[in-house]
Amino acid sequence: MRRIATIVLLMLALAALILAAEQKDKGGTEGKPAPAYVGDRRCKVCHLETFKAWKKTAHAHAFETLKVDERKNPICLACHTTGYAAGGYGSAEMVVDLANIQCESCHGPGSLYSRSSVMRDRKRSEDLGLVRIGPRTCTRCHNENSPTFRVFDYKEFLKTGTH
Ligand code: HEC
Ligand code: HEC
Ligand code: HEC
Ligand code: HEC
Repeated sequence: MRRIATIVLLMLALAALILAAEQKDKGGTEGKPAPAYVGDRRCKVCHLETFKAWKKTAHAHAFETLKVDERKNPICLACHTTGYAAGGYGSAEMVVDLANIQCESCHGPGSLYSRSSVMRDRKRSEDLGLVRIGPRTCTRCHNENSPTFRVFDYKEFLKTGTH
């Protein structure tokens, strides 16, 4: 009997944990505005050196890489612009230029975190949309759906892909 009681208790505890985790995934953010894309110029104001380094990468020119007719093709735009079909490039919410793979393609939409008071606090920044970057940030685009796919090696590609 004791054993069964213990098992039941453990299962209840597990269910509670799963529920809590689900709640956390939602961020417990009911009513909180979702972050929007603000464009690379906003970041440039405070991160000038990073901006200049990024400008030299292929990402900063990914839109110009496309031929004129390809610049209207949603398939190409999905990986050659910032936030395509997710509140970024081409969406009704777009108020700044979001062509190319800008800062927010990797770091996340910045309307809520891009203030010094927030940015000095990593945890708060992440709560407000700053992304914790890892291989999957990149393989969203660096995958076989790219017509020019080159095998993606995270460590190797970090060397020249960022800033
Ligand atoms: C008003 C100034 C300001 C703006 C605008 C701004 N930042 Fe920051 N950012 C900071 C400050 C201050 C820090 C703290 C670290 C430092 O001093 O560089 C920081 C830190 C960061 C970090 C490192 C966070 C960490 O703790 O590891 C990232 C990544 C970052 N910013 C990205 C961005 C991006 C992307 C944008 C544009 C969407 C942006 N920032 C806009 C001021 C700004
Ligand atoms: C939104 C899509 C997107 C994301 C996210 C992305 N990339 Fe890219 N990346 C591209 C595109 C498109 C190009 C080609 C740009 C061009 O040549 O015009 C590219 C080119 C590169 C290149 C140049 C190498 C080559 O094959 O010519 C490197 C290196 C690179 N990316 C690294 C990274 C890394 C590292 C990350 C993640 C931290 C990342 N990328 C995230 C779309 C993306
Ligand atoms: C292709 C992806 C990618 C793009 C585009 C990108 N970053 Fe980053 N950034 C990274 C990675 C990876 C790191 C290091 C890991 C981390 O901090 O999460 C980083 C780190 C940073 C940091 C922390 C300090 C440092 O250099 O380590 C700042 C600040 C920053 N980025 C700002 C920017 C700004 C501003 C832009 C646009 C001008 C930008 N990033 C564009 C991937 C990117
Ligand atoms: C799944 C994301 C993705 C899609 C969709 C995509 N691209 Fe790309 N594109 C990339 C990446 C990532 C690179 C960098 C090279 C690589 O590793 O694939 C790139 C590189 C390029 C390059 C540079 C050529 C080179 O040799 O590096 C051209 C040109 C290009 N893409 C054209 C297009 C066109 C045209 C379309 C639409 C028909 C398209 N891409 C759709 C992700 C994508």
